[in-house]
Amino acid sequence: MKILLRYIYDKFLKKNRILWEMVVRIYYYSGYPIYIFCKMTKKPYVGSYLFSDQEAGRERLKITKLILKKIKKKKIKILELGVFCGQNTLSISRENLSVKVDHFCVDLFNAYEISDINNDFRYKKCNENLRNQNIYNLFSHNLKTIKKERGNIRFFVKKMSTRNFFVKNSKKFDLIIIDASHQFNFVYKDIISSKKILNNNGFIIGDDYEVESKNFSFSSLYKNKNSDLIYSKRFNKYYHPGVALAVKRIFKNLKSKNGLFCLQKKNKKFIDFFN
Ligand SMILES: C[S@@+](CC[C@H](N)C(=O)[O-])C[C@H]1O[C@@H](n2cnc3c(N)ncnc32)[C@H](O)[C@@H]1O
Repeated sequence: MKILLRYIYDKFLKKNRILWEMVVRIYYYSGYPIYIFCKMTKKPYVGSYLFSDQEAGRERLKITKLILKKIKKKKIKILELGVFCGQNTLSISRENLSVKVDHFCVDLFNAYEISDINNDFRYKKCNENLRNQNIYNLFSHNLKTIKKERGNIRFFVKKMSTRNFFVKNSKKFDLIIIDASHQFNFVYKDIISSKKILNNNGFIIGDDYEVESKNFSFSSLYKNKNSDLIYSKRFNKYYHPGVALAVKRIFKNLKSKNGLFCLQKKNKKFIDFFN
């Protein structure tokens, strides 16, 4: 199925922007009835409406769950930067952990500068729904459904920028998931600040790292550092130059798996977990 969709995309949609935008609109609104149904029946919703399904066949959630299982503690502290509608939050909370979890969720829940070039329907809708609080309302709804199911998780929602969170925060964490702004200045600071508050044996998972930094020169990444997503002909892939540059500046290179990088802190050293 995935191969067929890829074929249709490559053959008909990639080069035809108008057709592609139409397909995206149909995809987006087709989720609305299920969204309403889930809201009414108090069930969690992640799907096409509000673009709340950010996973899109990437299998990053599976990796995050595997890493979570490697944390052997009676109480786990999780920090998630950039939660959007809560797809990752829901996925983690569905893991059948017998331990107690404190899950800190940080998000601006407000329009932010996503990109200077990708000013299309998807980006416009995301910003509109962040600004009018539709995203925050769905996130709160999804969180309520988890709270009902799982008594051993405590959520702490921080409606603020990651920068403000780091200024105010004095806690340390066992798992930090970075998926807020992808622009270089932001993601660079998010990684640097996360390193400082990670417990020993803890993990940092970074999202939207599709192509390894070693494949790019500093100059090509600097040129695009404020772009959200750009297409690489060489790799036939979209990638986030801000994330690749931040990784290159801090670590030179890290392995990428399903668009993620992962570090483990061992005796004050940060080890590339996928290497
Ligand atoms: C790609 S989405 C996160 C997707 C989410 N991890 C999921 O599983 O669905 C990025 C999120 O980061 C938030 N964001 C962007 N810049 C931010 C900042 N400087 N501080 C806090 N949150 C930010 C946006 O509001 C948005 O919800």
